[in-house]
Amino acid sequence: MLTRRQFLLAGYGSLLGAMAGLSGCAHSAGKMSSASMAPGLPHKGMGVFGSLSLKAHAERNGLLYGCAVRPELFSQDAKYTRLIIDQCDILVAENAMKWLALRPAFNSYYFNEADALLAFAEQHQMKLRGHNLVWHEQLPKWFASMVNRDNAREVLVQHIQTVAGRYSGRIHSWDVVNEAIWIPDGRADGLRKSPWLSLLGDDYIELAFRTAREADPTALLTYNDYGIEEDSQENEQKRSAVLLLLRRLKARNVPIDAVGIQSHLTANPNASFRGDGLRRFISSARDLGLQVFVTEMDVADGALPGDVGTRDDAVAALYRDYLNVVLANPAVTAVLTWGITDRYTWLQTNKPRKDGMHVRPLPFDEEYRAKPAFIALRRTFDDRQADASTQGADGSAANPYAPFTPNPTRARE
Ligand code: G3I
Repeated sequence: MLTRRQFLLAGYGSLLGAMAGLSGCAHSAGKMSSASMAPGLPHKGMGVFGSLSLKAHAERNGLLYGCAVRPELFSQDAKYTRLIIDQCDILVAENAMKWLALRPAFNSYYFNEADALLAFAEQHQMKLRGHNLVWHEQLPKWFASMVNRDNAREVLVQHIQTVAGRYSGRIHSWDVVNEAIWIPDGRADGLRKSPWLSLLGDDYIELAFRTAREADPTALLTYNDYGIEEDSQENEQKRSAVLLLLRRLKARNVPIDAVGIQSHLTANPNASFRGDGLRRFISSARDLGLQVFVTEMDVADGALPGDVGTRDDAVAALYRDYLNVVLANPAVTAVLTWGITDRYTWLQTNKPRKDGMHVRPLPFDEEYRAKPAFIALRRTFDDRQADASTQGADGSAANPYAPFTPNPTRARE
């Protein structure tokens, strides 16, 4: 009987070995040694560029791959910029299109970074997601003192008209409402007691979507949330509440086109991902006529031991197990990771490791070398084609998630 780690290595070994030998990959067959770590970007022909990039594999299988970016880094870090150009066909601003970034004062807007990001995306034939128009977090300081029940509706509508209107026709999809469900707040409908809910009541969601459609008739309007990915009871409750909201919106003919599953995951050394609830959730979203995007994927490694090889394998295994479930449904059309290199991940600040080592949640390491997570992403994109075409019309998996079987043809890539 193979252990989980041996199982993985059987799949990744030959390709990783080849890549590491050519210095394009962070470590060989899951083991990292300083001797195998060559500095700098992998070079062309070393297994991660062109037809071997994430975007090429995604496109071949009817998907978009991309990541969250910090546009301020484009002028500071050429390797980061190059990596994004090489790997992505869709981008999203990690922070630059949030209220806090766009609204320095009640009566003014700051668009420099957001404009530059859209220009960059268009220059490199990439799509851009908008994130986000309505959220309870990252509101500017002036918000609490300046917005009240009398003007909240006008403030919300004006913001959406101005921001979504400015980029109308040039945005792939907008996260119109972000994270509106929060079960611990105790409401029967699961809605979060956010400033918007207090100011406008539960109609604020519908208002936001209708205003966004008017401002940008072509962007895919998306509801985006987290805590709906895992097998736990809490996540199941949240999935039910999100579905209730989506059904309510659809029943009222609110213009909504997609649901975003953020997918901030945590590698658990003691349990594997099954995803039955998530599979049902995606199937239900598809029944509602919605597309599904994986909008913010990363895999936190704080619960794993320090050894880099062990960590990278476990992180890659969760990428693989998770995406195998998600991508089996053809309603899923885009996968974005929240960042692309471990160097700039938000998790280093927000969920640092107790042992002080740098976290490793993304497909490329701090030195921009491809990791096992990169291989897992690519392979699940490839496996997708067969899976998606063999499932039932209701999205239920006729080809349900099965244990990983190394594919001998893939090892020759
Ligand atoms: O820009 C300031 C900088 O001037 C200052 O020196 C520094 C000191 O702390 O803070 C900087 O702002 C930080 C900002 O990220 C930019 O780095 C904020 O403190 C920090 O709170 C902010 O965190 C972001 C967080 O959203 C809150 O907006 C993370 O980068 C970003 O990754 C995270 O993204 C969210 C998604 O929008 C929604 N889903 C969850 C996801 C992760 O939390």
